[in-house]
Amino acid sequence: MKLISGNSNNPLSEEISSYLNVPLTQASCKRFSDNEIFVEIMENVRGHDCFFIQSTSYPANDHMMELLIAIDALKRGSARRITAVIPYFGYARQDRKTGGRTPISAKLVADLITAAGADRVLTLELHAGQIQGFFDIPVDNLVAWPVFVPHIKEEFEGKPLCIVSPDVGGVVRARALAKRLDADLAIIDKRREKAGVSEVMHVIGEVEGKACILVDDIVDSGGTLCNAAAALKQHGALSTHAYVVHGVLSGKAVEKVEKSPLEKLVITDSIVATEAVANSSHVQQLSISNLMGEAILRTAEERSISALFK
Ligand code: R5P
Repeated sequence: MKLISGNSNNPLSEEISSYLNVPLTQASCKRFSDNEIFVEIMENVRGHDCFFIQSTSYPANDHMMELLIAIDALKRGSARRITAVIPYFGYARQDRKTGGRTPISAKLVADLITAAGADRVLTLELHAGQIQGFFDIPVDNLVAWPVFVPHIKEEFEGKPLCIVSPDVGGVVRARALAKRLDADLAIIDKRREKAGVSEVMHVIGEVEGKACILVDDIVDSGGTLCNAAAALKQHGALSTHAYVVHGVLSGKAVEKVEKSPLEKLVITDSIVATEAVANSSHVQQLSISNLMGEAILRTAEERSISALFK
């Protein structure tokens, strides 16, 4: 097995490497003076089972291009099999036409990864599970609850829990977590009654007096979570926390979270922590390295990955 790290999340790659006890293969990623990317794998990969680890997080286009070029380098270096390990799969939110003459970028990215030469994809909590079908190669889409559940159990022991989806699209994820925690479920339904009038947050479910945990796949600007937390408080929630898989947290999102009624935001390390994240007492990162590492091992040994979630 060869493990190769892209530049998007070196700390996670290092942790995966130590979980597997497999050193990272030396590779270099350089730039030409016009910023074109040049990747060179410094060790022989001929006949090897290669795993290239790269989140397509900010700057998304650079990290995406680096991923594609590295896959091409591995293919031309005669790797036996190439798995694109993409802890955070960018462009996933554009998974359908949202209007006339708009793209389905998630499908385009799937085609690019396949055309570059990947044989499989290993990822975590795709924005929509159906994106697996955009690929004609096998995709393993891991879920993050094995990382979140023990943490929630420890933090909220003895408290009446309610798992909340901040929008209708996230209900399946919230329900899966609620089931494993034996907790209640609530949903926030955002509606703009008239154009130009601000959104109304309807809370479906009983949240009064409960420790509410918002769950989502992505926190980007923080708007969805912060508005949801405010609505839960208005409906009498005892406390509001959030567990979100991918902490995109662009712009002033961390500041927004700190000023919101959210007591804590827990994210994974699928995206490397920005300085704002690392310095915030409101944001905590849990590592997915063991989960990703175990999935890589099982892929290499042709063992079941779904058994990890039973
Ligand atoms: C939307 O469907 C996603 O699941 C997230 O709720 C959304 O991307 C969060 O974005 P923001 O933090 O910018 O509100």
